[in-house]
Amino acid sequence: MLLKPLLYGALACLLLCCEKTESPAEIKTKFLSNISLKTPNQVLQKQMDSLKVSLLDIYNYCQKSQDSAYKNKVITCIYGKVDNYLQEEKPEYEQGILYDLNKFNAVLMNFKAPQHKTFLDVGSGNGEKLYASLCWGFTKSVGLEYSKKLVQISQNALQEFIQQKQIDIIHADALKIQPEIYQEIDVVYLFSPIKDNKIMAQLTEKILKNMKEGALLLEMRFGYHKELSKSMGLNFPKLTDIVLKKQQGKYYYASAQSLKINWTLLE
Ligand SMILES: C[S@@+](CC[C@H](N)C(=O)[O-])C[C@H]1O[C@@H](n2cnc3c(N)ncnc32)[C@H](O)[C@@H]1O
Repeated sequence: MLLKPLLYGALACLLLCCEKTESPAEIKTKFLSNISLKTPNQVLQKQMDSLKVSLLDIYNYCQKSQDSAYKNKVITCIYGKVDNYLQEEKPEYEQGILYDLNKFNAVLMNFKAPQHKTFLDVGSGNGEKLYASLCWGFTKSVGLEYSKKLVQISQNALQEFIQQKQIDIIHADALKIQPEIYQEIDVVYLFSPIKDNKIMAQLTEKILKNMKEGALLLEMRFGYHKELSKSMGLNFPKLTDIVLKKQQGKYYYASAQSLKINWTLLE
């Protein structure tokens, strides 16, 4: 007689134990796999906030996802929450205005080759492009930044990646730093950090002369082709943005916007 209720009780306990409650990690994974590209970024940011989705969660998502449109969307949303600081530290240097992340992602997707592992942002601002480049498959990203405040903001936001040695942020003047830094890098990126065209040409010349064989330089605001042509004795084209490649001591260029890459020798 007593056995029956006991059996029912045991069965109920078993069923309760088996009823699965989702862990926060599972909830986040489910959320990320159900994102709609139509959801406005602000709405998505709020949802990410309430689920405590972190930069590391999005980085991990990007390592697994093959879909560039989704990656682009989540990178843009998650880094949009990081502070910025818009004040010139030197009148001839630019403020920390960020280059459009969607355009940056498109250029990287187009030009990054599988052998490109290291990335350098010259004038890295709040660190947005350092983070995005890791999400797009670089294994090491280095930032050079003149503004102490922006170095602090970016180091603070990216501390987990700095601890893992995936990101390094150096407080330095790109014009004065030892040129060896440019020899280590596969893809150097610039959003013209200096207002003065002559000084900007000096910086680009320093990078081009020191970057390694096969390396790329992505320049998203190329307003100084005349000054650079004069100082390097080469015919740089008048383009708003440009990708430069060094191969066997020679330089080649393509428009950063070209969908089909067509390298032209600089002479
Ligand atoms: C226009 S912002 C670009 C920020 C970021 N790279 C991006 O593309 O979104 C230029 C950054 O370069 C930094 N900068 C300007 N001159 C510099 C120099 N000589 N050395 C290092 N950083 C510099 C500024 O402080 C600013 O943060």
